[in-house]
Formats: sequence, structure tokens, C-alpha cells
Amino acid sequence: MKKLRTLSSSEKAGHVFYRKLDSPLAVAKKAKGVWIEDADGRQYLDASGGPVLVNVGHGRNEIAKAVYDQIIRCDYVHGTMFTTSVVEDLARTLAEYSPQGIDRFYFLSTGAEAVETAIKLARQIQIDSGRPERFKLISRWKSYHGLTLGALSAMGRTYFRVPFAPLLTEVVHIPPPYCLRCSYGLTYPQCGLRCAFALEETIQNLGPDIVSAFLAETVSGATLASYPPPPGYFKIIREICDKYNVLLILDEVMSGLGRTGRWFASEHYDVVPDIVTLGKGLSGGVAALSAVGIQARYFDAIKKGTGNFVHGGTYSHHAVAAAAGLATMDILKREKLVERVDRYGKILGEKLKKQIGASPFVGDIRGIGFMWGIEFVKNKKTLEPFSRKDKVAERLWEALFARGIITYKSTGLAGIDGDALMVAPPFIIEEKEIDLVIDNISQVIEETLSQ
Ligand SMILES: Cc1ncc(COP(=O)(O)O)c(C=O)c1O
Repeated sequence: MKKLRTLSSSEKAGHVFYRKLDSPLAVAKKAKGVWIEDADGRQYLDASGGPVLVNVGHGRNEIAKAVYDQIIRCDYVHGTMFTTSVVEDLARTLAEYSPQGIDRFYFLSTGAEAVETAIKLARQIQIDSGRPERFKLISRWKSYHGLTLGALSAMGRTYFRVPFAPLLTEVVHIPPPYCLRCSYGLTYPQCGLRCAFALEETIQNLGPDIVSAFLAETVSGATLASYPPPPGYFKIIREICDKYNVLLILDEVMSGLGRTGRWFASEHYDVVPDIVTLGKGLSGGVAALSAVGIQARYFDAIKKGTGNFVHGGTYSHHAVAAAAGLATMDILKREKLVERVDRYGKILGEKLKKQIGASPFVGDIRGIGFMWGIEFVKNKKTLEPFSRKDKVAERLWEALFARGIITYKSTGLAGIDGDALMVAPPFIIEEKEIDLVIDNISQVIEETLSQ
């Protein structure tokens, strides 16, 4: 008889290759509104909406019904064989709320896939606009664009890149607009937005005729823990892109669809992208759904030129995922949640600053809408970060989780060091729940870092 291998205690749990291998995960059983309940009946306030995506709240009946109805009506058709009314309706709804001129949408499953698609689309647009020599992508350090190889090549989070560096394609990175730790050692506004002009310098250095696109998060999200760009940054970026025929791809996978208190974060900065990526909040986490939006003129150029976009997969333009997206958009509109984020986001920011801003371990609190970051430092005056070895973000995060408060971690903000937590709740959170989150953060900072 075959001898069975003895299982280690972690393996005994089952056969899942977990995303986190260092400690066992709680088993989630229920999720409703802003609350999650585990198998032991413990309640967690989801103050980060998972990885910043549960925008309309957990467990919405309207979305469940829309998904169910779509499965019964028409569950799957291949995107090269059919379109569906739900996909058409979702694209029409997105076009209504999108930055000027963005009116064609390609649907995919994940944010990383949307980013990869945008990079390929930019190349295709350049070819079909009579500039076939353009292929090079420029992006930014300290960015987050997803973990598949193309998106990871564009991403600027060192810790995630290093193990896979030999597999990455060559994307050129410029410094981010991260005024707290300016790469040039300058101060806004005397800096003259040196970091924006780094784009022009890089385009020229590479050879202006080979650059296809510049990719940037409108508001730096997961890596820089919600760092909005300084005023004027995107005006300069847009002008440089126009001057050199470089396409501007804004990654709004995290910041899009209401998270910043506007339908698109780009509205805050008066910039219109050529290509925009969406994901996360598009379905609020219910279905794997992302999208790439492009200007109509580029869609026309592709149609007239190559005639097709050589791309897509089994799950592109998925009707059931689109049903979840459409129902989510309906909730955002009907309950005026984007306006709510604008109003309550200011309250959240003010309360965070008032209650924990004075802590000697808090170097900065920044954000917009329901996308806030708290950056922790060893020395408030010099902004010296904690060493990564101290695992400050992890310890704070775990202490909060143990109290039933869920936040989102960022690390590596200061060179390879640096720690931050993001507070990015569902749009329906109540003020007393905001207070509960901030009270707990305040106590956990004190308990964890004052020892
Ligand atoms: C701005 C941005 N782009 C892309 C992604 C990747 O999305 P996904 O994890 O769905 O692939 C993320 C995820 O955090 C993101 O924040």
C-alpha cells in the first residue's frame, strides 16, 4: 500500500496554495455592507474595501440579482462571435461618465490585464496612426500596475520586481510626483515640477520617435499609499505627451469610478487621457471585471488601419461580469455615492489629521476622497523611515486586524524602506464607523510603536 506523507500543520488545513504562507488565514463566512464576519463569529470593519475595491459595500442584493438574471438569460458567449445588450449598456454608461472623448471600452478581467491591454493598444494606435517605429513605454518608479509580467515591467515597486527582474521587459521609469520625498531634493512649488519635466528629458534621451506611451496612476495608490499629484503636474505631462505624439495612459484601476469623489480622478487635475484603465470598483469585487477606455478617434484609426486589435481572451467582454458592472454603476448613480465620497472623504481626511497627525510616528497623512494614506516614520522632523526589518506596516496592520479593523499596507515608500497604511472604506461607511476606525488606528500606533 502507498505510504502517505505526513502533513505539516499548515498543510493540514487543505490543498490551497494561499497568497500568504507565513501565518494561517481567518476563514471569512459573511460579508455585508462594511462588515465581514469570520467562521468564529468575529466581526471586521472593512476600512480598506479589500485592496481598495469594495466601493458600493459587500453583499448588494441588486448586484446579486443582476448577475443571477444574466446567468439565466445568457451566461456566456464568445466575444468574437456575439455582443450582448449588457456589455453594450455598460460601455454606454461608462462613456457617459468618462473624460471627454473616451467612448470605446474593451472589457477584461483584472487590472493587470487592463494595463497590459492599454500598453498593447498604445502600440497598435501608433502603428495605425502612421508611426510604426514607436514602441517604448515610459512609466514611474513607486507605481503599482499589477503583477503579470507586462504590468510588472511597468510597475515601479522594487520589492515586487526584484525576484522576477530577469523576466521583465524594458520599460523606462521616471521619478514619481512624491513631494514628501522628492527624488530631486526640491520643494513644491519652487521645484517648477521638475518631476514632470523628467518625462520630456527621458523622451528626448530615448529618441523622441520611438516612444509610444507614458503610463501613470492618476493618484498614486498601492505603492505610495494614496499620494495625489501636486497641482499643475498633469497639465505639463499632457503638454509633453502632445508635443511628442506620446499617448497618455492613466491607470484609474484604483482611483476611478468614484473613489476620489469624482467619477474619474483625472477630473480633479483637468487632464484628459488618451487611454484609461479601470478595474476594482467597476464591479466592486463581485466579478473579475476591468476595462480599457480609449478616445473614439483612436478606435477609428485602428478600424481604418490594421482593421482589428489582435488581442482578447476567453473571458473578455463577459456578459455576467458586465451585469455586475452595470448594476454597480446603477447603485453609484442612484445612491449618489460619488458625491457622498466627496463629502465624507473630506471628513475622513480631517479626522485622520486631527486625531493622529500629531503622533511622533506619523510623518504624513495625505489623500483624496476615500483614498487616504498614513506614512509612518522613525523621526518626524527628518522623515527618517523605519527600516523594513522592523516590519512596522505589517505589525500595525496585524494589530488592527486583531481588533477587527481592516486597512491596506504599503511598504518601500522611502527607497527600500518605509511603511504606510491606507484607509479606503466602502462609499457607504457611516461617520461613527469612520470614528471607530480612527480610534483604533490611534490606539494601535501608540501600543505598537511607543514601546
Ligand atoms: C492602479 C492599479 N493598476 C492595476 C492594478 C492591478 O489590478 P489587479 O490586481 O486587478 O490585476 C492595481 C491593483 O492594485 C492598481 O492599484
